[in-house]
Amino acid sequence: MAQKPEKKQPETTGHSWDGIEEYNNPLPRWWLWSFYACIIWAVAYAIAYPAIPLIKGATPGLLGWSTRGEVKADIQKFTDANAEIEAKLSETDITLVSADTELQSYAVNAGAAVFRSNCSQCHGSGAQGAKGYPNLLDNDWLWGGDIEAIAQTVRYGVRSTSDETRYSEMPAFGEFLEKEEIAQVANYALSLSNSEHDAGLASSGAAIFEDNCVSCHKEDGTGDREQGAPNLADAIWLFGGDIESVTQTITSARNAVMPNWGGRLTGAQVKAVSAFVHQLGGGE
Ligand code: HEC
Ligand code: HEC
Repeated sequence: MAQKPEKKQPETTGHSWDGIEEYNNPLPRWWLWSFYACIIWAVAYAIAYPAIPLIKGATPGLLGWSTRGEVKADIQKFTDANAEIEAKLSETDITLVSADTELQSYAVNAGAAVFRSNCSQCHGSGAQGAKGYPNLLDNDWLWGGDIEAIAQTVRYGVRSTSDETRYSEMPAFGEFLEKEEIAQVANYALSLSNSEHDAGLASSGAAIFEDNCVSCHKEDGTGDREQGAPNLADAIWLFGGDIESVTQTITSARNAVMPNWGGRLTGAQVKAVSAFVHQLGGGE
């Protein structure tokens, strides 16, 4: 049987502790060179690119590149590409936008983006609204659903800080009417849309409605857009259509606030978001 070749003993460093010796195994060359390369790479990177954190941000790096700058350049690219049509939108009368298919499609897309970042927190991501925040998909409008009315609401707001805001104030009838009278007129208001109500109380409420409510909600309860007074006969309720909610509305009044956007959005953005809302389904 052939003898196994004698395994070559590695060199030792010469250190020896109680007969235990230390081998001298150098690091593989490829490993060592990769290690040096990494160090050189790191130093070069730190010089060329933003790297070392300082109080107000990182060192900028010789190349002046940053992800932030890249995003900015990207945004600029799109802004430049849209500059022409954006300018056209600024100049075009809002009633004429929809006649120009290209302009309308740009406005609706840009408006959808404006809506997502500025309006959806109140009106819902699909513009479906919520209690106290009107649904913008249906054709039930407080202040009007043609494109000019929508743009005016958006630009100046409702009961907002703008000098030209849409304004009206439903009185809190808790100060003028007895509890019993409020119960009667609340049931009368519910009867207008055939919502669940107490017919006895409602019939006593008719006269109270006549005296206190028709100036805004009209004889038949269909409301008045000049004053943003909702239609009470359509069973669409902004603040709830059960007797508790309606009693609360009449007792305390709601007087909801819609912010004005004229100062925060550009003229073109106001037109764009109005065009977007207008084409959602309820536009007139
Ligand atoms: C802070 C919440 C809030 C935000 C944000 C908001 N709205 Fe409103 N919006 C309201 C309220 C509340 C009303 C109802 C006001 C009233 O009672 O008349 C309203 C009413 C409206 C109306 C009138 C509806 C009607 O029936 O006449 C339109 C149109 C509208 N908003 C569009 C927008 C658009 C577009 C944006 C984004 C640019 C926006 N809103 C952002 C709260 C908001
Ligand atoms: C000065 C005008 C005005 C008068 C008078 C008035 N309202 Fe209103 N009413 C409004 C406005 C504006 C709103 C809705 C806007 C808001 O409050 O945010 C409203 C809202 C309501 C709502 C809520 C509707 C919904 O969709 O949730 C009810 C119910 C209502 N009014 C009943 C009455 C009754 C009943 C009276 C009489 C006792 C009355 N209002 C008198 C202006 C008026």
